Amino acid sequence: MIYTPASKMEVLFSTQQIAERVAELGAQISADYAGESVVLIGVLKGAALFLSDLARSIQVDATFDFVAVSSYGKGVRSSGAVKLIKDVDNSVEGKHVVLVEDILDTGLTLSFLRKLMLQHRPQSLRIATLLDKPERRKVEIEADYIGFRIPDHFVVGYGMDYAEHYRNLPDIRVMPGDGTE
Ligand code: IMP
Ligand code: MG
Repeated sequence: MIYTPASKMEVLFSTQQIAERVAELGAQISADYAGESVVLIGVLKGAALFLSDLARSIQVDATFDFVAVSSYGKGVRSSGAVKLIKDVDNSVEGKHVVLVEDILDTGLTLSFLRKLMLQHRPQSLRIATLLDKPERRKVEIEADYIGFRIPDHFVVGYGMDYAEHYRNLPDIRVMPGDGTE
């Protein structure tokens, strides 16, 4: 891979814009689950930073768990088939679950994970995604909490990668060439 310096990439959302929106989502989740406990389930690795910030703006009792998936093939975008790499560590049966994802793109990953979670018989299941690219959807699925809706750009930073790089950028940037080269 040819490494493009982050300084050459256009900033789509600044650290401040992200922080403000994540705080709003946290407040919304806190209100929706007032008096309840919630299990935040992050999708590794992309959602790790979003989960850590979101969790800190949630006022209700919250526990964490993580799942990991991979799509077959080496493409940057998901190839279609989703494979489970890691399931939750603790049972979520009878619990309020919020699946926390970085991007809802074609929807294949989250529809796979939604089915998997429902097999674990939670009391309720909702989806929080930082970014949503509705134009790219291949299967019908909507998130309950959405940070930002964006057009079809390939983005990196704040947990999101291009070939595993750029996850540590504190803001969200657009990958030149749309990440497909
Ligand atoms: P979906 O199954 O197509 O909805 O894919 C969602 C996953 O694809 C996300 O969890 C990301 O890992 C990856 N993805 C989709 N779009 C982007 C992007 O613009 N930047 C980085 N990763 C992306
Ligand atoms: Mg991901």
